Amino acid sequence: MSDETITLTVDGQRIPARPGQTILEATEAAGIYVPRLCWMKELLPGGSCRVCTVRVNGRAQAACTQPVASGMVIENDTPELRRLRRDIVDMLFVEGNHFCMFCEKSGNCELQALAYRFGITAPRFPYLFPQREVDASHPEILLDRNRCILCARCVRASRELDGKAVFGFTGRGPGKRLAVASADGLAGTDAERGDRAVAACPTGTLLPKRVGYAVPVGRRRFDHEPIGAEIEPATASE
Ligand code: FES
Repeated sequence: MSDETITLTVDGQRIPARPGQTILEATEAAGIYVPRLCWMKELLPGGSCRVCTVRVNGRAQAACTQPVASGMVIENDTPELRRLRRDIVDMLFVEGNHFCMFCEKSGNCELQALAYRFGITAPRFPYLFPQREVDASHPEILLDRNRCILCARCVRASRELDGKAVFGFTGRGPGKRLAVASADGLAGTDAERGDRAVAACPTGTLLPKRVGYAVPVGRRRFDHEPIGAEIEPATASE
């Protein structure tokens, strides 16, 4: 990446950026949080969830994939964008089967943490209650598709960080599901509990077995501070 510095305007604030950075990277470096879900440091951006949508010179763009350019005028924290992101998270909740109170990931779940940050207490759309398969075949890892938001972080982490190809997708539209590279389920793959793909899951879809509640509820990551606080520590809520 070049040493050249350019300037962007984000919600009226001028911030520096380097050519080659994405909007998400540049804003994060400037202490501005753009909500994100399918994005993960170390992975190539997937650009699928659209939670990171910002307006760039008036046009909606995904901040995690859009490269910066000099003079960009970006809207991030506006009522319209907060509403849009909230709707996306709302839809993710009703499109799967997310029972947070029974989920081991509660307090560490990025979907749940975004819902709290956006002030969601109950989804505004009807629940779809889809039929989804649980794969408990692997001795070390549980795969519960009910909690899957199809972010592809495990798919990308398996390939890009683990050097494997354990996960992929099957089906289309509402029938799209997380798949594994074996007809015998996860047990038939070369997945291991220490794989980055397992840790990459933002929800409770992939969980290592037999370590449940090692950290009690109430002492977990998002029990202490809202998601995004590590980027803009002064922000307690939206
Ligand atoms: S975080 Fe940018 S599209 Fe998902």
